[in-house]
Amino acid sequence: MAQQRASFGSKFGIIMAAAGSAVGLGNIWRFPIETGNNGGAAFLLVYMVAVVLLGVPLMLAEFFIGRYAHTNTAHAYKKLSSHPLWSNIGFIGVLGGSIILCYYVVVAGWVMKYFFLSVDGTLTSLYQPGNAANYESLFGNFVSNPWSPLLYMLVFVLTCHFAIASGVQKGIEKLSKIFMPALFVILVVLVIFSLFAPGAQAGLKFLFYPDFSKLTTSAMLSAISQAFYSLSLCMGCLCTYASYFGKDVNMVRSAVSISVIDALVAVMAGLIIFPAVFSSGIDPQSGPSLAFIALPAAFQSAFESVPIVSYVVSMLFYALLVLAALTSAMSLYEVPTAYIHERWNISRKTATMVVTAVCLLLGTVCSLSMGVLGDMKLFGKNFFDLCDYFTTTWMMPMSGILIAIFVGWVVKREIFINEVTNGGTLRPTGANIMLFLLRWIAPVLVLASFLAVLGVL
Ligand code: PFF
Repeated sequence: MAQQRASFGSKFGIIMAAAGSAVGLGNIWRFPIETGNNGGAAFLLVYMVAVVLLGVPLMLAEFFIGRYAHTNTAHAYKKLSSHPLWSNIGFIGVLGGSIILCYYVVVAGWVMKYFFLSVDGTLTSLYQPGNAANYESLFGNFVSNPWSPLLYMLVFVLTCHFAIASGVQKGIEKLSKIFMPALFVILVVLVIFSLFAPGAQAGLKFLFYPDFSKLTTSAMLSAISQAFYSLSLCMGCLCTYASYFGKDVNMVRSAVSISVIDALVAVMAGLIIFPAVFSSGIDPQSGPSLAFIALPAAFQSAFESVPIVSYVVSMLFYALLVLAALTSAMSLYEVPTAYIHERWNISRKTATMVVTAVCLLLGTVCSLSMGVLGDMKLFGKNFFDLCDYFTTTWMMPMSGILIAIFVGWVVKREIFINEVTNGGTLRPTGANIMLFLLRWIAPVLVLASFLAVLGVL
């Protein structure tokens, strides 16, 4: 069984796949919203600090567990401890990753729809100077329609299904090696366009000039959860991917590279969005509808004098979102697929079918909760918001604290250092620094932010 297990084929493939998991709607859609809501540059600064102090060490911890155990996330922790508190951490990942997948595919479906709307010229034709009302009704009518969002979600889910069913190397790795460089090229082109938008300076100032008076406790907490979400931490994705790593991979270097790529993409997304938003006079705090209402209007208005540029910019932007969503959704898909495949010893294709069936079922409820099932609420939230809230506010930080304590304090130091230094062939400095952060910094910071969210601190 161990010999037959799938693996990645190259180090480049590993970085592209893991960076593909990290770079997603979280960077291009959620990051600008959070930055806009929390005052811009000061938020960006805290976000960067959170990536360095929490993100990189926790990513390394997941890499360590996955590669050491060489099995799916749910079983990986069991190989390092038999105590129920620690051995079940992996289940939080399998459950949390699956829940995120169910609402992620809904938003990814919207993104696909908007890609088509940009290609067929609808977004350009709806533009009215100084007025985003057309885009508002377009989005409102679309998400509340019971059928159309489901159709796009189905297309997206089936794309993921075939990618995952093709296997780790032929599906995930191959596609990531094509999509990630393509995504980067699109990003660079869009940044260049956006920097030439009239009035771009206001957007740059917002993104890079810190105003610490806006840095409330809740802004700091949002920066921490954004870092977790954006780096795909604690939901089993990185642990599962690491179980396919070769024993010669430098995991410290990989964790640093992936975090740098992820942060860079987030900043580049900010560089695309804020200049366009500011030059069109739209409020950067427009919330979740930013990508679907404010941005189509902003892109048209920023390049009003050259309509072909606004057409190309919107098309490229939604293509970027589709690619980013696909590579992240693949990593979420892989977590339950690997678990079902190995736990019940059934073929990968059958395991993928089970995941697809559950994802379509729950994804449908998430999608309908934006319209016909909107009145079905729990704790004042519809099903879609509930899935997001439950995973990002509860499961991610809880699992983060447990992983940091487990790797920092429970697992024997020699086991960690030996695995991370590839059996002593790499210098241990990086591993030691990360262990220090996992022991002393990560649990304290995450616990403090968790308690603050609950209103205890
Ligand atoms: N990191 C992804 C993004 O930024 O869109 C989202 C994500 C993927 C979150 C996987 C959590 C996860 F486990």
